[in-house]
Amino acid sequence: MISMAKPQMGAEEKQAVLEVLDSGIIAQGPRVKAFEQAFADMVGVKYAIATTSGTTALHTALLAHDISKGDEVITSPFTFIASANSILYTSARPVFVDIDPVTFNINPELIESAITPHTRAILPVHLYGLMCDMERILAIAQKYNLLIIEDACQSHGATYNGQRAGSYGTGTFSLYPTKNMTSAEGGMITTNNPEIDEECRVIRQHGMRTRYYHDELGFNFRMTDVHAAIGLEQLKKLGKFNQQRRENAQFFTANLRGVITPCEPEGFQHVYHQYTVRVPDGKRDSLRSYLADHDIGSEIYYPVPVHRQSFYQREFNYHIEMPEAERAATEVLSLPVHPGLSHSDLEHIVTAANQFMGY
Ligand SMILES: Cc1ncc(COP(=O)(O)O)c(C=O)c1O
Repeated sequence: MISMAKPQMGAEEKQAVLEVLDSGIIAQGPRVKAFEQAFADMVGVKYAIATTSGTTALHTALLAHDISKGDEVITSPFTFIASANSILYTSARPVFVDIDPVTFNINPELIESAITPHTRAILPVHLYGLMCDMERILAIAQKYNLLIIEDACQSHGATYNGQRAGSYGTGTFSLYPTKNMTSAEGGMITTNNPEIDEECRVIRQHGMRTRYYHDELGFNFRMTDVHAAIGLEQLKKLGKFNQQRRENAQFFTANLRGVITPCEPEGFQHVYHQYTVRVPDGKRDSLRSYLADHDIGSEIYYPVPVHRQSFYQREFNYHIEMPEAERAATEVLSLPVHPGLSHSDLEHIVTAANQFMGY
């Protein structure tokens, strides 16, 4: 079976983990510090704060910006649930804005009409490895004095006009094994703001500024040095991984027929966390079964938009329609695009998909 993801673990990661285990410092220590600095350098910001996951990175970032009950945060309904759940953890309300049908990202044209006196922040999600239109979003945020908290969990190294994901506002990243780089589990927050940097560190460590004096409610969201050692080695390979993903994507785009392939608008560098096609004419689910019969994994990211999830319907009674997110949920299919694929894997995927689509 050609799998959807395959973490690329080399001798470097294994050696780095062994060194941590031998060092005697296995929880948060010097490797976390080094990983944070290297990650900040990659994104092009002053500070990075490591956490236990992308979810806790989002949660911490929102808390650090004082998002709380009564606040509204604008985000995409077409995303992994954590983007919206992290808003709920702060007791604020997620306000959904429909997506652009071409990029699958939040549609900047629709953002202004969703702004109310309670809106505090925009949380754009750079889905599948393609950044949102940050110039437009930044202009809206400036006009209405709103914060930007980027969900860059799927976009390590992606750029827009040469500027990296996670450097437009406060950035958040996931380091889960399926991502473009991993620390097994882990997350990262990025910022240029020294106060946000400090506040994230306090929240990560039980609200503690001075040892065993707790000024506020915090959590244990600390990354371990074991995870950071893996992350540091993966970060060194991120450019190569992303290049391989881009080459795999180029091969698909040049050879797939009968499906709508992903776009990379002018000025954007897509890092293809997912290679996601639209399958027209209600054929998506049967294409998926056909690929499975030919030993090819594929996945639907995401079959249910967040506002349609039963928990959100039941608890928050969202009576909204997001036609593009709802249509995308019925048409999208992600194909394996990770750097562990061989050329014959790529050819096998293209041949099977084209065969099914009648080409
Ligand atoms: C868009 C998005 N946001 C948030 C997350 C949460 O990250 P994690 O799984 O590391 O908590 C993910 C991870 O799957 C994601 O894809």
